[in-house]
Amino acid sequence: MSDQPPVHPPVQSGLSIYRRLLSYVKPHRKVFLISLLGMVVLAGTEAGFAYLMKPIMDSGFVNHDPVSVRTIPLYLIALFLLRGLASYASSFGMQWVGRGVIADMRAQLFSHYLQLPAGYFDQRNSGDLISVITFNIEQVAIAITNAITILVRDSLTALALLGLMFYHSGLLTLTVLLIGPIVGLVIYKISHRYRKISKNVQHSMGTVTHITQEVIDGQRVVKTFGGHDYERHRFDEVNQNNRQQYLKMTSTQSISVSFVQFLAATVLAAIIYMATRDEASSIATPGAFISFITAMLLLMPTLKRLTTVNQSLQRGITAAESVFEILDTDPEPDKGTKQLGRVRGVVQYQNIDFTYSGSHERVLKDICFKMSAGETVAIVGRSGSGKSTLVNLLPRFYDSTKGKILVDGHNIHDYSLFDLREQISLVSQHVTLFNDTVARNIDYGQLEQTDESRIIAAAEAAHAMEFIRELPDGIHTLVGEDGLNLSGGQRQRLAIARALLKNAPILILDEATSALDTESERLVQQGLEELMENRTTLVIAHRLSTVEKADRILVLDSGQLVESGTHTELLEKNGHYAALYRMQFQDD
Ligand SMILES: Nc1ncnc2c1ncn2[C@@H]1O[C@H](COP(=O)(O)OP(=O)(O)O)[C@@H](O)[C@H]1O
Ligand SMILES: [Mg+2]
Repeated sequence: MSDQPPVHPPVQSGLSIYRRLLSYVKPHRKVFLISLLGMVVLAGTEAGFAYLMKPIMDSGFVNHDPVSVRTIPLYLIALFLLRGLASYASSFGMQWVGRGVIADMRAQLFSHYLQLPAGYFDQRNSGDLISVITFNIEQVAIAITNAITILVRDSLTALALLGLMFYHSGLLTLTVLLIGPIVGLVIYKISHRYRKISKNVQHSMGTVTHITQEVIDGQRVVKTFGGHDYERHRFDEVNQNNRQQYLKMTSTQSISVSFVQFLAATVLAAIIYMATRDEASSIATPGAFISFITAMLLLMPTLKRLTTVNQSLQRGITAAESVFEILDTDPEPDKGTKQLGRVRGVVQYQNIDFTYSGSHERVLKDICFKMSAGETVAIVGRSGSGKSTLVNLLPRFYDSTKGKILVDGHNIHDYSLFDLREQISLVSQHVTLFNDTVARNIDYGQLEQTDESRIIAAAEAAHAMEFIRELPDGIHTLVGEDGLNLSGGQRQRLAIARALLKNAPILILDEATSALDTESERLVQQGLEELMENRTTLVIAHRLSTVEKADRILVLDSGQLVESGTHTELLEKNGHYAALYRMQFQDD
């Protein structure tokens, strides 16, 4: 985004949302003005066309004036040429602005998603967040450009047409203005009823789908429990209901069309009656009368559109609200300024307390420990004891509620988030692969700057080359959205290769191999050992061999650090670890 919209207070009125939306139009204001100008011209040509009816009738047909007969067709062509240009300028211009606003807003929101804290995503449904960037933003632009178009083009058109009508006959115009709203109200009532019925049709269609789906998905239950008659009966009811609603809708539709036409004819008849009978209201010439009627007919759809402008505005504002609400959420706090090259990897947790936002339970309680550079520390504990939470504080996915974490002697808050995270590689149970080649997935985030030989070396060390070679295009094979049908072990080895290539001094392994079967785990294990060498490693493991080899083991229980020591020391102690060992690792 080039133009960053100004900061706004969190409580938003419709007006302030509207003002904020206009700030998105600002960068496109030139095209916006051209589009508005197009609308002014359009309104003029609409009235111009109605006006032309008079000379066409009077000079052309009634008086057969030879000059007019030649010039009027030319006027008509010129008018519609102008109208075409204006129409193009106004609608293309509006689209230009609208699509521009959509693209800017999307870019801004996307970039904001990249910066929102992990806790934000915990509390929200990813589908909702995606639909804000696709559906809501689209709605905002469509509704607002629609509203602007109607507001400017149609109100100007209405004014111009009304002006023309008054010019021809004030009294007739007043009559139209008097009857018009009554007719409008009747039409509104009819269309309201129509909408209600068509909603019923939709609903009954939904029930048909619902029952059918139940029967298809649950066909085994239907078969074994003999539910055929019950289902047939149930379906028959909704099937008939659907038919009835449809017929009702069709009937309403055809009656209303005839009725509206009848009403319009009545109004027309009244005007013809007045125009021909009453001296005071009579119109000067037949041409003026036709011109008047044309203006009146053109006025109708214009007025109809004007009544929907508020609806459009409201829809746009509601959609905008959800967009702005996200944009106003604070990004991850990132205030550190301390320069950081490559750390040695001394990690220290000091009196760390942690509570997830929106919960009261302290997940971590007064955690204290220190790791020297290159040390491997295993964290064990029952599921839910806070192991993942503990390691997630280090890359600052969450910030501790109390206490501090030091890396190489400095509070991690003193470093910029980017620098801090550069020091850390994380491999967890869930491997995220992106829709790109194997190489780009291993070299993720490096914008294709890494030497291919280094990527291959990393894959080799992670024991991933073994299967990558078998792929159709080797490391240039597209992984695709479905992950190429890679097995869990293969995906895991790609994640290890990714971490190896990153070559960060601190490594976090969060149950990296727990989703694998024994065979793939053995393969992955070799890669992991490669990765742990010479790095400060925090490993959450469920596998005895990893835990045994660790320099130290920390035992977590309900968020408390209850024991610490080597495998042998802790077994001798015969406390928490010994109990865990008997329960979890017995099979190894
Ligand atoms: N994103 C989250 N939001 C709220 N509570 C969470 C979140 N993640 C984990 N918890 C809770 O925190 C506790 C510790 O979880 P976790 O650190 O994942 O344990 P472990 O990794 O040891 O299984 C659990 O009670 C869990 O329900
Ligand atoms: Mg966990």
